Amino acid sequence: MKKYPCIQTQLPGTHALQYLKKERKFVSPSSTKSYPLVVKNAKGMLVTDVDNNVFLDFTAGVAVCSTGHNHDQIITAISNQANELIHMSGADFYNPLHIVLAEKLSAICPGSYTKKTFFGNSGAEAVEAAFKLARYHTKRSIVIAFYNAFHGRTMGALSLTASKLNQRKHFLPLIPEVIHIPYAYCYRCHFGLTPDTCNMACITWVREELFKTKVSPEDVAAIFVEIVQGEGGYVVPPKEFHTALYQLTRDYNILYVADEVQSGMGRTGKMFAAEHFGIVPDIITIAKGIASGLPLSAMVAREDVMDWQPGSHASTFGGNPVSCQAAITTIRLLEEGLIDNAAKQGAYMIDELKKLERRYPVIGDVRGLGLMLAVELVKDKETKAYAVEERDAIVERAFYKGLLLLSCGRSAIRFCPPLIVSKNDMDIALSIFEECLKEITNK
Ligand SMILES: Cc1ncc(COP(=O)(O)O)c(C=O)c1O
Repeated sequence: MKKYPCIQTQLPGTHALQYLKKERKFVSPSSTKSYPLVVKNAKGMLVTDVDNNVFLDFTAGVAVCSTGHNHDQIITAISNQANELIHMSGADFYNPLHIVLAEKLSAICPGSYTKKTFFGNSGAEAVEAAFKLARYHTKRSIVIAFYNAFHGRTMGALSLTASKLNQRKHFLPLIPEVIHIPYAYCYRCHFGLTPDTCNMACITWVREELFKTKVSPEDVAAIFVEIVQGEGGYVVPPKEFHTALYQLTRDYNILYVADEVQSGMGRTGKMFAAEHFGIVPDIITIAKGIASGLPLSAMVAREDVMDWQPGSHASTFGGNPVSCQAAITTIRLLEEGLIDNAAKQGAYMIDELKKLERRYPVIGDVRGLGLMLAVELVKDKETKAYAVEERDAIVERAFYKGLLLLSCGRSAIRFCPPLIVSKNDMDIALSIFEECLKEITNK
């Protein structure tokens, strides 16, 4: 018998409605909320709202709660740490946990050499730090990023972001000398080609057009790239894309900066998505899944790249001891089995989604790695017109049935559950998703 999800009131319920009313009055309206979920508590895969409705969480709080909500070992680690020390800024004092965690990150990030870590509190902060370090180290000014990229919303990170117009609108001017180029979004190739025959035209274009007409590669500090694009649509490029991009950076001494804020920490079935592509980035940015929900980010760079001097960059709160303890325990749990589970459950889920793709023409594309999975909805398989209303309707209907989903890209739905997800959870989520598909396509 299916015991969850369990929706027992109208949504939003009476308590939720009261909060929503006050939220409208007192809280900034700048973030996008997909549906009126007001959370009271959560455990494992389940989230309970303020009216005691229980939801199955296929968002992990936007790919954050890698070990599931409120994992017992995380609670113990952070409670013990809170009893010892909550804060003594890493900006001015030494902290043993920074050293332990930085050593561990040096070991687990791709590349057999030593790496150094700068600690921040959010993904955007890690990206800002990488942006500054790239300019500092290379003494070059231009930075390249991709269309559909999402790197955060602070001014530097936003300058790299090119995912949705409303994220940039009215915030100009941003940081100068940021250039966007097409990503290998092969389902909608910018050059109208297909990956089997294109010879990575998107990278050739950079070599043969951009670098011959507008931008001297000797002025380029770094290329920022999501190994798998996240907010922009969970786009998985072919292996050859990263190989060609990496070679381009080697040819011109450009730093290859992998933004693994969303794809890192086991989500794709390997500790870092770069490992799927055999890439060893010069800098990696990490946040979201690193500390099971506590605010923490890391910018990890090759030892020789992180050559900035004292005073050049720091953060009062970055690398908070409680967050660091959560990260140390999170990494252990990932290594003890959650990464393998992400690979195993992800393989099952993508097969099931592909079966749905064959039955429902509204699904134009199914893609992903591990538990970073998406379906892109289209009005017509030939024209690939974005099925935005259909996508929004599915995400909303799933909520009313007790399944938490999130959108991404222009008409995609992402599935990014906690890495503890079981086959049973998958089957429940898939059956609710299919019910929604049936409803919106009248099948
Ligand atoms: C790839 C990537 N980089 C950076 C960020 C920004 O992270 P934050 O919201 O923690 O600032 C995100 C957030 O979704 C992300 O997915």
